[in-house]
Formats: sequence, C-alpha cells, structure tokens
Amino acid sequence: MSVTSATLEIRGVTRRFGKNTAVSDINIAIPQGQMVGIIGRSGAGKSTLLRMINRLIDPSQGSIFFDGAEVSQLSGSPLRRWQRDCAMIFQQFNLVPRLDVLTNVLLGKLNHRSTMSNLFGMFSRAECAEAVAALERLDIARTALQPAGTLSGGQQQRVAIARAMMQQPRVILADEPIASLDPLNAKVVMDSLQDINLREGITVVTNLHTLDTARTYCNRIVGMAAGKVVFDGPPEELNREAVRLVYGADNNGQEISEAITSTSVAFSRKIAASAGPLEPAFPGY
Ligand SMILES: Nc1ncnc2c1ncn2[C@@H]1O[C@H](COP(=O)(O)OP(=O)(O)O)[C@@H](O)[C@H]1O
Ligand SMILES: [Mg+2]
Repeated sequence: MSVTSATLEIRGVTRRFGKNTAVSDINIAIPQGQMVGIIGRSGAGKSTLLRMINRLIDPSQGSIFFDGAEVSQLSGSPLRRWQRDCAMIFQQFNLVPRLDVLTNVLLGKLNHRSTMSNLFGMFSRAECAEAVAALERLDIARTALQPAGTLSGGQQQRVAIARAMMQQPRVILADEPIASLDPLNAKVVMDSLQDINLREGITVVTNLHTLDTARTYCNRIVGMAAGKVVFDGPPEELNREAVRLVYGADNNGQEISEAITSTSVAFSRKIAASAGPLEPAFPGY
C-alpha cells in the first residue's frame, strides 16, 4: 500500500493561551513521506503544534493545509475524515486498559464505520483479520486477547501504533512516543514508525525529547524554542551552534545539559560548547 502524495503546510500559525504565546508564527511545509522530528525544550510549543495539526485545538492565527485543503477550517464529517487521515500517538499510549488488545486496535476503525454498526459494536471478520495483521506486523499478535493494561509500556505503544494503522492514515503525529519507554523498547517503537514511514510512505511527524533519536530516525529535524522554529534541516546540518539555538545555554552561557536532550544512560556527560573532543553519539559535530 502506498499513500497518495500530499503536502502538509503550516502557514503563519500562532497559538496563544491567554497572554502566553505557545506557538509563534510557524511556517513549514512537509511533503508526503518525510519523517520529521520536532525537538526543543519542555514548553517550546511542540505538543501545541501537533495538537493544532490534528485539530485537537485551533490556531489563534494562521492556517494549516493538507493536500490543498484548509484543515484548520474543517468541521463535521470532513473534520472527522481529516482526523482519521492524521492518526495521533501519545506518550501515554491512550489505550483502554481493561479492553483486550484486539478490541483496542479495532477502535482505530470506529470513524470508518456507520453509526449503526458502531452502536451494535460489531466488527466484521475482515476488520478483525486486518487488526490481527496489524498486530502481527508489530510482533505482538500473541497479546491479542490480553487486557491492554497488562502489557509492558513498549507493547502498549505498539498496540497504539497498530490502532493508528487501522485508520489507514496519511500522516502519523506522535507526541513523545518513547518518552515513557526504556531504551530497548524505545528502539522497537521508533523502528516500527520508521518502517511504516518507509514502506507505506506515510508522513511521520514526531516530537522527540532526545536529540540522538531525532538524528538516528528522522530525515528532517525541526528545532523549536519559545514557540518559534529556530532550526529546520537535515540532521547533518544540526551542528553545535544550531543545538545551542534550540536548547539554549545554561546559566553560565557555556554548556548545554545533556539531560534535556537525552535520557539514555550513555548521556551522563555534558556537551562542552567551547572545548572537548567530539562525541561519537553526536555525529556531525
Ligand atoms: N491548554 C493549555 N492551557 C494553557 N497553556 C498551555 C496549554 N497547553 C500548553 N500551554 C502552554 O504552552 C506552552 C507550550 O506548551 P507545549 O506545547 O506543551 O510545549 P512542549 O510540548 O514543547 O513541552 C507552555 O508554556 C505551556 O504551558
Ligand atoms: Mg509536549
């Protein structure tokens, strides 16, 4: 399966919460099939941006287009269609813990179906087969009949990805999908998103709190600081100066704490902005 080509365009988008500007005049165009990592400090506006794309919240100013249609103006069934085309994955998985895994995955089909069949809660044999196939692809089919809440975090996030795939999305938005996972599970989840991006050509836009993950998996990195885009380019262009623009410097203006860019155990060092050998974990410095 391959999705048709369409660009996601964010034009002059600003979002205010009271006096606080969370996202400030953002302009980016994301062609179909890119895997984009959004990085930045906590509070930079990353989640707000993703939530506006999915229309969980609306921009205060500006417009968002997909495939030429202004998604920031949609309502009713065209809005539901957009929210189906643009699946969302969250840090906390957002599964229904007491329902079994298979049913959780089938819930991804809900807005494909008529209200009547939703009311009767019946899924067709074909839909069940599709859900099992999605679970097999993510290597968790054996958990199909377990309550989702009994799975490990890494398994739950894979269920959430399988559920997203049931929407047959054109875009996947993932908000810190690995922030609650250990490094091994984080790798499995990121590998799955990359595989979906490469094999189906689905655009993936993911907020990431670790620089190394963004470098490893994304072909484009968008760096945000205080609601603005301060870097936009391929990982190899994200040099030390750009990292400093994104994450800022600490109080003495000299160093960036690696704690804000990575949770991996290998990152107990400091990035010295002024001296020291280049770290192999940060190729391109
Ligand atoms: N629903 C909200 N109400 C008020 N302020 C919010 C809301 N959501 C986000 N903010 C504020 O917007 C800014 C950006 O937040 P957020 O998008 O969550 O950043 P990030 O995801 O990069 O950590 C922060 O100052 C945050 O407090
Ligand atoms: Mg966030």
